[in-house]
Amino acid sequence: MVIKSKIRTIPDYPHQGIMFRDITTLLKDADGFYATIEALANRYRDVKIDKIVGIESRGFIIGAPLAYALGVGFVPVRKKGKLPSVTIGHDYQLEYGTDRIEIHTDAISSGEQILLVDDLIATGGTAEAAVALIQQVGGVVVECAFVIDLPDVGGRKRLEARGQTVFTLCEFE
Ligand code: PRP
Ligand code: ADE
Repeated sequence: MVIKSKIRTIPDYPHQGIMFRDITTLLKDADGFYATIEALANRYRDVKIDKIVGIESRGFIIGAPLAYALGVGFVPVRKKGKLPSVTIGHDYQLEYGTDRIEIHTDAISSGEQILLVDDLIATGGTAEAAVALIQQVGGVVVECAFVIDLPDVGGRKRLEARGQTVFTLCEFE
């Protein structure tokens, strides 16, 4: 089962020059989706994790079943204006464009061990903003896990430079 082989690449989406790594082809494949969640669950089954934080929207698709598999809670980090209670937010730059993510201030208790999950790390701007939010509400980020790393874009190094550890299932140059 090669997870990478089930991920499709769409050239020039959403902008000229972007090679879009499309996980919908992995998700619609029962064996591929199962293997993805299992690979992540196997890494973290014996690690002390209190909650998984997933980043909207593709991070929800990976993070929620992983939380279920590990028997831990799931916390959504959402794009601006989507969470109904009291939030804190962080602006960040994407490989294409800018955005803002938010978290409920009561989503994490002080000292809780958090696994951050998303489908893909490119510049690392989104994940870095999510790490900052988790830390601001008192969480400790155990690791940042992604299905896909784009090493040429530098996100992993950016997170590692900030003291985070990064785990990914595959890379696209
Ligand atoms: C994508 C991806 C990551 C982020 C990675 O999400 O799912 O969250 O970009 O980019 P970065 O490492 O350069 O920050 P996007 O904002 O496109 O939203 P989506 O998941 O709703 O499609
Ligand atoms: N998010 C940021 N860059 C991306 C890419 N190249 N493919 C898919 N999602 C992305």
